[in-house]
Amino acid sequence: MGSRSEELSLVPLHQRPELMEACAQLLGEEWGKSQASRLHSLQRSSDAFPICLVLLRSWGPAELPAAEKSPCQLLGHVRLSRVVGHPHSLFVESVVVPRALRGKGYGRKLMEAMEKYARAQGFHRLHLTTHDKQHFYAHLGYTLAEPVQIMAFLSSGISAKVLRIFSAHPSPATSNLGAWVPATTQPSLPPTMVPPPPPLPPLSWMRGAPAKSYGQNLLETPHCDAKGLPIFWMKKDI
Ligand SMILES: CC(C)(COP(=O)(O)OP(=O)(O)OC[C@H]1O[C@@H](n2cnc3c(N)ncnc32)[C@H](O)[C@@H]1OP(=O)(O)O)[C@@H](O)C(=O)NCCC(=O)NCCS
Repeated sequence: MGSRSEELSLVPLHQRPELMEACAQLLGEEWGKSQASRLHSLQRSSDAFPICLVLLRSWGPAELPAAEKSPCQLLGHVRLSRVVGHPHSLFVESVVVPRALRGKGYGRKLMEAMEKYARAQGFHRLHLTTHDKQHFYAHLGYTLAEPVQIMAFLSSGISAKVLRIFSAHPSPATSNLGAWVPATTQPSLPPTMVPPPPPLPPLSWMRGAPAKSYGQNLLETPHCDAKGLPIFWMKKDI
């Protein structure tokens, strides 16, 4: 990958706010929407999910190619969200590598680094959807799966109680995601007082039509997205 000496790293976008615009442009070139709308979405990235991760290439001062103005280059983006009812799972989306850099191995590097990141946070399974990249994901070890329900905006005001019920963090002791549940400590309830699961949070949503367990292969899928387009659900244990 690349002929020069180079260092790749996967970094939470909110730790590199100066890259927000470049990231919004990268996503916009692929999927449209206004720069403002993209920026708004990217600015929600947080350790408490959804989180945007960017793959960066950086050069040391002596190695900086003449044409490069910046010591680091954006090689890819991926977003991770929590999954309702699956505290050990994450939902992967907005996987993208700049057009000019595709086919050079950066997509694989992005996915592998993201998987390592997710594992390190205590997650064991990844879910994703795709309209047409199912062969790419299958090549990287993802298999066809049933739909799951995604928590899109955990940081937008869902109560601590709901968060605890739906999204107990898999390994709080080993994670740096201190902001997982709002910091208010509440005494734990005796078992008989544990409330029943509430209805699904209003900000949760589900992609895809109700699952059928038959008829799914890498060429056809029983699922479709909100616009009625065929969509493949895939998962990988990490
Ligand atoms: C999908 C995408 C991220 C792949 O990135 P990339 O840098 O081109 O992929 P890589 O060069 O790292 O390829 C990794 C491996 O996957 C294989 N591969 C890449 N695209 C493939 C495809 N469409 N079908 C099957 N295999 C594919 C490559 O041959 C390579 O195999 P190898 O590592 O064994 O040699 C990139 O094409 C992209 O950004 N596409 C537009 C956005 C998009 O559609 N994202 C997916 C949304 S679900």
